[in-house]
Amino acid sequence: MDSGLSATARAHPNIALIKYWGNRDDALRLPANPSISFNLSGLETTTRVAFEPSLAADSIEIDGLAAQGPAAERVVRHLDHIRALSGQGARASVVSRSNFPAGTGIASSASAFASLTVAACAASGLSLSEDHLSRIARLGSGSAARSIPDGFVALETGAHDEQAFAHSLAAPTHWNLVDCIALVSREPKSVGSSEGHRLAATSPLQLARVEDASRRFEACRRAIQEKDFLQLAEVVEQDCLMMHAVMMTSRPSLLYWLPATVRILHEVREWRAHGLAAAFTVDAGPNVHCLCEAASLEQVVSRLSHIPEVTQVIVCHPAPGAVRVP
Ligand code: DP6
Repeated sequence: MDSGLSATARAHPNIALIKYWGNRDDALRLPANPSISFNLSGLETTTRVAFEPSLAADSIEIDGLAAQGPAAERVVRHLDHIRALSGQGARASVVSRSNFPAGTGIASSASAFASLTVAACAASGLSLSEDHLSRIARLGSGSAARSIPDGFVALETGAHDEQAFAHSLAAPTHWNLVDCIALVSREPKSVGSSEGHRLAATSPLQLARVEDASRRFEACRRAIQEKDFLQLAEVVEQDCLMMHAVMMTSRPSLLYWLPATVRILHEVREWRAHGLAAAFTVDAGPNVHCLCEAASLEQVVSRLSHIPEVTQVIVCHPAPGAVRVP
């Protein structure tokens, strides 16, 4: 175990079943609507933070390379929050490594900021509740708030900063839901999520999407509680399509889908119509997250793998939240 002024933590990315898109406050990342996700097993980021009084500036290494520019500034800003809270004045050395390569279309900001938060808080001597850690992670990346608690997780909007944190709805073992991520592109996205959140309000559809969000949130929460896959499929697909409708109608317009994305959406609907319980959701990119229960996993992976544009299928089960590691 790290000691003194250093600590290491591990976190998983998550897939949103009810999406967060747009902030009521961009600086505090107060989400415009509540969201629900589950943590993804097998994919993880491990981050070590060591506060070193001899350092003149924070030193940040991500996946073996020295971070520079906006990526480094975002980490420094996050460390500054934690320094302000703990009174720790020293600069830090941060080494972060994800086991999923950049460019697989899986956002690493959630696992990166969740693991950074847990490691930096521990290294600075803070001993905080899960709610508080989730709030701090949210300041680094909205979806990172959801990678702190275990399993199936809800992030409420909260009236203000202190109330906007995520909590676990159910343990990872509650439901054997699977996310089969069908990769159709490894290109980095041209417009990142932070910029996308800022554009959300330029779409005339965002208001309607946000107004209806608590209904979708509640339907999804119930479907998880009752392990009702068909109810889940309906609300997850509707929620995803509402987010992409906002993206497409923002100014400038964000069209993340490729022809292969649309093809898979049609295929999944077709499978479901013919009795194979599968559903789709798509984040800010072209790759499709195909959800199913463990009993259908083999069939779903086999069918996805037969689609010519699909270059890889990554299978993830619900996973625990962020933890400190030796
Ligand atoms: C489409 O959490 O990646 O994945 O706060 O700017 O880091 P930042 O945004 P981010 O946004 C997530 C967008 C989404 C939907 C979701 O995960 O809820």
